[in-house]
Amino acid sequence: MVINIEGLDFAYGAGKQTVPVLKNINLNFPEGEITAIIGQTGSGKSTLVQQLNVLLKPTAGEVHIGDHVVTSKTKEKALTPIRAEVGMVFQFPESQLFAPTVLEDVMYGPKNFGATEEEAKQAAEEALAKVGFDASLFEQSPFNLSGGQMRRVALAGVLAMNPQTMVFDEPAAGLDPQGQAELLDLLKTLRDEGKTIVLISHQMEQVLALADQVVVMKDGQVAAHEPVEELFARPQAWFADQHLDLPETIAFQKQMEKQGFTFEHLAKTVDNLAEQLAGQLDPAALADQSTVQKQTGGSQHE
Ligand SMILES: Nc1ncnc2c1ncn2[C@@H]1O[C@H](COP(=O)(O)OP(=O)(O)O)[C@@H](O)[C@H]1O
Ligand SMILES: [Mg+2]
Repeated sequence: MVINIEGLDFAYGAGKQTVPVLKNINLNFPEGEITAIIGQTGSGKSTLVQQLNVLLKPTAGEVHIGDHVVTSKTKEKALTPIRAEVGMVFQFPESQLFAPTVLEDVMYGPKNFGATEEEAKQAAEEALAKVGFDASLFEQSPFNLSGGQMRRVALAGVLAMNPQTMVFDEPAAGLDPQGQAELLDLLKTLRDEGKTIVLISHQMEQVLALADQVVVMKDGQVAAHEPVEELFARPQAWFADQHLDLPETIAFQKQMEKQGFTFEHLAKTVDNLAEQLAGQLDPAALADQSTVQKQTGGSQHE
């Protein structure tokens, strides 16, 4: 299912009280790819993704979601089937948990979209397994869980509806490193299953590791929209202008380029960075250096 945004403007409020936020957005979200959305706080990322599961309707322009077309005039009733196709994981989704047990909370979505009790239970169990949730916790109250566990229950709630497209609004915010690594794995699994994923993230390492293409938002407009390799090949000064960080490997690579090193492609991982550098280092100079270190008792690894 392809999603296209064409000439979209969006303003909050109505009448004289409108606050224009998004201006002339033209974007496509290719099927089966991960599109990352980055940009400063307040640049319009969350407002943008709420157009994708039609929580908000455009003020002007069109959103094409598969065969559906959404404009300012689209009736509320026509939006329900679209919401079943595009799953939305909000920022801090655990704040929306409500049911007395974990299992019931995850079953709520499928039931709401017409699944029987039995179907909903099966979907919920599968979704909970996917986020690494042990069956022994299914009957627990979600409010007795740790923050990371609550986040996973909330994620399972969206997975259980099995939407073709999934939107994640800063899903890693506030998770510990292990929780973040698990999330990264989950997103990769979903991508490998053929889901279309839209991911708002502040973490450039995560964007580099996951994204196929990146959208950079600035003041409600698209400042860049291109494959991840192209984006991070932009000069460091451009990122400073956008108030965006660079992933560490790439910041390092750009520093080395200033020293005269050349790279065939963007270093996505430390291993790849080392590989590309190794070929350019003078073995004689390295041997000298290690002799010096042996003599002084130093080690290259410290
Ligand atoms: N419900 C709302 N009513 C009015 N203005 C809003 C509302 N939600 C967000 N905004 C404004 O819209 C702009 C974009 O916000 P948002 O989409 O949340 O940006 P981001 O997710 O990039 O931080 C901000 O200026 C914000 O204050
Ligand atoms: Mg936001």
